[in-house]
Amino acid sequence: MDDLVAELAGLLGEANVLVSAQDQALFLSDWLGKYHGSARAVVKPGSTEEVAAVMRLCTRHGVPVVPQGGNTSMSGGATPDGSGRAIVLSLTRMHRIRTLDAIGNTITVDAGAVLAKVQDAAQEAGRFFPLSLGAEGSCTIGGNLAANAGGVAVLRYGTMRELTLGLEVVLADGRIWDGLTALRKDNTGYCLRDLFIGSEGTLGVITGAVLKLFAQPHARATAFVAVPDVAAALSLLAAVRDRCGDRLTAFEFMTGDCLALILRHVGEARLPLGEMPPAVVLIELSDQDDEPGLHDRLEAVLLGSTETGLVLDAAIAQDGTQAKAFWRIREGVSEALVREGKAAKHDVSMPVSAMADFVAAADAAVYAAAPGVRPIVFGHLGDGNLHYNLLPMQGQDPAAFAALTPALTRIVHDEMDRRRGSISAEHGIGQLRVAEMPLRKAPLDLELMRSLKDLLDPAGLLNPGKLLPGKFLPRFRHQLRTIMALLDETAKGVYVIAVTPFTEAGALDLESTDRMVDFYLEKGATGLTVLGMMGEAPKLTAEESRIFVRRVLARVQGRVPVVVGVSASGFAAMRELSNSVMGDGATGVMVAPPSNLRTDDQIVSYYAMVAETLGPKVPFVLQDFPLVTQVQMTPAVILKIAAAHPGCVMLKHEDWPGLAKISALRAASDQGARRISILVGNGGIFLPEELSRGADGAMTGFAYPEMMVDVWKAHASGDVERAHDLFDAYLPLARYEQQPGHGLAIRKHILAKRGAIASGTLRKPGGTLSRSDIADIERLIARQERRLKEIG
Ligand code: FAD
Ligand code: MLT
Ligand code: ZN
Repeated sequence: MDDLVAELAGLLGEANVLVSAQDQALFLSDWLGKYHGSARAVVKPGSTEEVAAVMRLCTRHGVPVVPQGGNTSMSGGATPDGSGRAIVLSLTRMHRIRTLDAIGNTITVDAGAVLAKVQDAAQEAGRFFPLSLGAEGSCTIGGNLAANAGGVAVLRYGTMRELTLGLEVVLADGRIWDGLTALRKDNTGYCLRDLFIGSEGTLGVITGAVLKLFAQPHARATAFVAVPDVAAALSLLAAVRDRCGDRLTAFEFMTGDCLALILRHVGEARLPLGEMPPAVVLIELSDQDDEPGLHDRLEAVLLGSTETGLVLDAAIAQDGTQAKAFWRIREGVSEALVREGKAAKHDVSMPVSAMADFVAAADAAVYAAAPGVRPIVFGHLGDGNLHYNLLPMQGQDPAAFAALTPALTRIVHDEMDRRRGSISAEHGIGQLRVAEMPLRKAPLDLELMRSLKDLLDPAGLLNPGKLLPGKFLPRFRHQLRTIMALLDETAKGVYVIAVTPFTEAGALDLESTDRMVDFYLEKGATGLTVLGMMGEAPKLTAEESRIFVRRVLARVQGRVPVVVGVSASGFAAMRELSNSVMGDGATGVMVAPPSNLRTDDQIVSYYAMVAETLGPKVPFVLQDFPLVTQVQMTPAVILKIAAAHPGCVMLKHEDWPGLAKISALRAASDQGARRISILVGNGGIFLPEELSRGADGAMTGFAYPEMMVDVWKAHASGDVERAHDLFDAYLPLARYEQQPGHGLAIRKHILAKRGAIASGTLRKPGGTLSRSDIADIERLIARQERRLKEIG
């Protein structure tokens, strides 16, 4: 048991501190099965004071905390990352109904109380708590608050924010903020309560709440209505509102494809209409009493709308059982989607009047980009909130669809943006949408949110990686530049060339991208380089390249410079990629020569064109890698390019043999030629000698980046012998990783083994390792570890 776990067990009792993989499993994956993390412990405090004690302890130890309720988040909000550093703080033991005030119409509950239990408690007291959603049997009030949940009754009662009067919150440092008032009017300054609602566990741990109650609606009228399309559904909405006013409680939309999916996967769901309709709405009216009157109203409006062609067919529930059966269809949608496959989910909101146009435009655009893709559209039409989900085309390889998803999401969200909507109406940002925040939120919004985060959680321990993107947001370019200057000639150290992580199925693995960035930085990288030409950059689509680079930049948060390979074919593509990544916050770009260059003049002219294409504000790295490019660059050519173009600030030296080249370049600069940075490649296998010849460090991707960091540091401190001793310990593995055509699989295998990425998979076409290869690697690692111990 580690020290922290022992202290936690001392505070909460051993039974409430889960450490075994089996005990933790339920808390480490999300409901959709998209995210899987690991945790140092899952803790289950039983009181607000115990939550406070846990927070004090974690702040003292610098340990991240992921608050969790029912773990039903649709955006990976309650799942820890894969580092295993965080603890998951589950509120599920705190489920008391503290008090209920039938006259004041309030209920005070622990944050871990399950929503359905709160509804039941209200009902038993003759009152009504209206929040209602498919996960109500397992989601908790704390999770509903942290996500500002919506559901199917927002139209009449509002979201969780509007249903809340007071909160009790434990802050990151363990102080307890008692805002547990039941006041409906309180004008004494900023509304602190509202800061925590929708904060997704990033500002504090909600431990209790005072919620509003309402009179019980004893009368209900429920109808299942076939409509031709979204536009008709919207006109029907207006007609029902005109006739029924506030009695309108729910107006839920589903396309015919969505309905068919539910009928296919949810056994007890039955279609209450004669024929499969193009689309349906589920309408519910409610009132204190007079059920017959309510039915009459609904019937009248549906009849009138049938005459105008808005309604094709309708069934009005004759009793509670029928109404339940209608709702079972609607509530079956999430499970039906999960059973069908991994959908690309979108939870957009926009002005109600824009929704018909949005669906038509989004459908057309996604079909154009991915013919055969299956939109499954449903949602809370009356709230301007659609769940625009996309399923793979029939028979499509899930990995191929996963690779397409970022591009499809961009299309859907661009259509949403055109209508001034939001990328999250009710599911929150979590980890699903965090990388998109800089793209979709205004810089000032993000800046203010970041200020609040820094104020309430200065060490960034509460639910890291969720909701808020990295500290120095790509869109705050001016801010980035003051913190991270552009790449220049003085660059030195180790710029690790990052691999591109893929899932076993071959999709871009953005979760691992975060983990990998953390790993490289923990190992001491002074910079990162992505989309290197020897890696898998050519296997990414242009859209995937951008998403990957953005994710790396968001995770790096301006802590180290990031160089991006832009050796695209053609200058227009190079310009576009370079503008995009520099706009996102990259520090410089790298360009290798195309292999058709033969003469010195051709090489010099090519780089003149590169400099012109990139423009004067984009520093670039000249990549000299004749083994692969077949382009031989002499020292004279390199010096000529450096002299002619101030933007050329670094040579990535990867010639072999190439020591003489470094000596020649350094001799020339000693005599007055322009001195640019030289970082060396080849997996670092000549690093000590290259440093002695005047290289400034390495830019390469050996799976043990700490070797290059330690060798460089020892060399820089003048301890050349130590640099060699360290290097020698790693050399056998570095040599093994240098096998042409095989090295990347070895590198990724080791990185996965070290926990830096989830899987060592290469995207197709890519090799795999044999059992003998893996045995070789194991032996080499064991020998390396032994040797490192010996040399201390
Ligand atoms: P969790 O999933 O455990 O956590 C959600 C977020 O809140 C995380 O960021 C977590 O860190 C944070 N958090 C949890 N508890 C606390 C706390 N005590 N203090 C601080 N932070 C905390 N959502 C809707 O809005 N409308 C719907 O119609 C809807 N339908 C759903 C249907 C199904 C079948 C499912 C599975 C989910 C649905 N959801 C819906 C999403 C989800 O259920 C809700 O967002 C719910 O509010 C989450 O509650 P939870 O207790 O499960 O929270
Ligand atoms: C719903 O409205 O049913 C949900 O928010 C859940 C989902 O999108 O799957
Ligand atoms: Zn919903």
